[in-house]
Amino acid sequence: TFTPRVFSGIQPSGNLHLGNYLGALKRFADAQNKGIESIYCMVDLHAITVWQNPADLRRATRELCAGFIASGIDPEKSILINQSQVPEHAQLAWVFNCVARMGWMQRMTQFKDKAGKNTQDVSLGLLAYPSLMAADILIYHATHVPVGEDQKQHLELTRDIAAKFNHDYGVDFFPLTEPVIEGAATRVMSLRDGTKKMSKSDPSDASRINLTDDADTIAKKIRKAKTDPEPLPDNTDALDDRPDARNLVNIYAALADTTVEQVIADHAGQNFATFKPALADLAVAKLSPITKEMSRLMGEQDEIDRILTRGAERARAITAPILRQTYDIVGM
Ligand code: ADP
Ligand code: NA
Repeated sequence: TFTPRVFSGIQPSGNLHLGNYLGALKRFADAQNKGIESIYCMVDLHAITVWQNPADLRRATRELCAGFIASGIDPEKSILINQSQVPEHAQLAWVFNCVARMGWMQRMTQFKDKAGKNTQDVSLGLLAYPSLMAADILIYHATHVPVGEDQKQHLELTRDIAAKFNHDYGVDFFPLTEPVIEGAATRVMSLRDGTKKMSKSDPSDASRINLTDDADTIAKKIRKAKTDPEPLPDNTDALDDRPDARNLVNIYAALADTTVEQVIADHAGQNFATFKPALADLAVAKLSPITKEMSRLMGEQDEIDRILTRGAERARAITAPILRQTYDIVGM
């Protein structure tokens, strides 16, 4: 039996968006406030699986740290770290590279999506990404990982790696970590195409709401979001074949901390000409304080760097003994 412990990470690859906020950041703050020991991580080692301009990466890492804090992560309550400052992540990942199988990695849909037809000319790191992610989680013996739906397959692989390690070495050392995928916004979709997920890598800026967007930009993007001419239905099933409408309702529910059923009950029969301004007001009310706090913190780079140095020290008090024990188990 393992003590409950939460871990989750986000890539510092720029453009922190509403999907990251509702699917991840907001829920991290909720977990922290329930009093469960939590480690939150900027995963810069994951970001470099595709080439990053060094100055941009450095800035994006600090901006992401500001995003975590502005979203309610308290660096005293939670452990807030940058992955490359805690070397045990990469060290355990090597052990896992030797446990995981090539075929497991090649089957990952995120790898297939990112590599496309070009599987021979992507970095080796892009293929091994889920093994590093397993190490991120298991170097803390984390039992729960709050994530968006897109990470479900990687979490299953994390369990496979833990199980194979335990089996190969005849130990019960790594927990079988549970993904926590819940709430109205586990998959926030593009504002331009309700069949594609909102993503920082989408070339269309109008497809997402960035946490750095000002109030006018947020309102404009919601006003211009793709919808259909029908009013909102009086039951949630009727949203099943209306992905753009469903997405806006999901976003509303998540921002308002309520259920999709409740939003439908309150807004049935409304046209989008009425619903969109209500959604825009709600989004601005919830996101503006975060945007402001992020920009304040971005002016306090020394404070951010101190927080990350302190976070890494606290993290290593957990990771160093677990790596040591892993090496002992393996015979090193
Ligand atoms: P991205 O997919 O934009 O590159 P990351 O891979 O760094 O972002 O994901 C960070 C966290 O945000 C993960 O928990 C992921 O599941 C979540 N996430 C990313 N995009 C979305 C989305 N569109 N809806 C809900 N959660 C999302
Ligand atoms: Na992702």
